[in-house]
Amino acid sequence: MQYSTVILAALAASGSLGAPLDSRQVEAGSQTNGIRITLEDQSVELGRQFTINGDGNAEVRVAVGEPEKFAAINVSLGDNISNKELRCQARGLDDQPIVGKRGPDDKPNIDVNFSDAGKGPWTFLTGKQVVKEVVCSPEFKKITPEKLAEGQQVLVHFRKEKGDNQPFTIPVNPAAEKSTPSNTNEQYKTVEIEVGKFTDPQSIRCQVFSDRRLTRLVRGQRGENIDTSFADGDKGEWDFLVHRNGQWVSGQSKVRGVFCSRQIQQKNAAGNA
Ligand SMILES: *[C@@H]1O[C@H](CO)[C@@H](O)[C@H](O)[C@H]1NC(C)=O
Ligand SMILES: *[C@@H]1O[C@H](CO)[C@@H](O)[C@H](O)[C@H]1NC(C)=O
Ligand SMILES: *[C@@H]1O[C@H](CO)[C@@H](O)[C@H](O)[C@H]1NC(C)=O
Repeated sequence: MQYSTVILAALAASGSLGAPLDSRQVEAGSQTNGIRITLEDQSVELGRQFTINGDGNAEVRVAVGEPEKFAAINVSLGDNISNKELRCQARGLDDQPIVGKRGPDDKPNIDVNFSDAGKGPWTFLTGKQVVKEVVCSPEFKKITPEKLAEGQQVLVHFRKEKGDNQPFTIPVNPAAEKSTPSNTNEQYKTVEIEVGKFTDPQSIRCQVFSDRRLTRLVRGQRGENIDTSFADGDKGEWDFLVHRNGQWVSGQSKVRGVFCSRQIQQKNAAGNA
């Protein structure tokens, strides 16, 4: 990521922009000492830089002051930080560690424990996020393949009645082919998509097939949206639509297969007609 000259100049001049800092914060005059944290928000050309004192062998934290939205974080460990494995978390308003990614689009690193490793900024997976504080600790470890795989799953919940609290759930791996459930004789009225917190992108969509050959897409409606693919967006269930007497009405459908992929596009308004 690139800064505009304006921000670079401002950062160079002041070391940090605004914000009351922790007592361990020191002037960021040096490029090579301390733990340098940069929070970025390119769209409004705003950057914030903090330099935290320490040797990397104990937990240190810095408050953003007034919590603000940022798009990315860069962790830069100075020459005098002996623990090069040190990782940092960006914490949101509820203290939750924010998920970030960096590296090639087809195979990014995804984590909440951000390292330096000379690889540049981590971009927040779900877009701009409010950051309240940054915590760096030698306890923070790189994500395990198991944890990553679990968080990359998409859970597809089917219900016979809206709001039913015992849905029939199919876990879907977005990298895999179509998944086929075992109980294919049941009929369902709604589908809800639950995207794991490490799934990239969070806007991933799923399709549901009603026939054995997995060619017929089930259509659904959520609010104003009518589509043959379904997203999470924290907006709950989609009602299935069936064609009856020349009209699309809420109804039940068999579920023979499910497919979730970053390649599936949302229909535009025209396609909804
Ligand atoms: C690293 O450098 C920073 C900035 O000069 C300084 O405040 C800090 O005490 C140094 N840390 C160690 C462990 O030497
Ligand atoms: C991010 O940190 C690295 C040090 O790992 C540094 O080389 C790079 O210039 C920093 N990038 C930004 C945009 O601050
Ligand atoms: C981050 O580090 C903490 C503390 O070691 C660990 O519990 C957690 O599993 C790590 N990764 C993620 C993705 O939470």
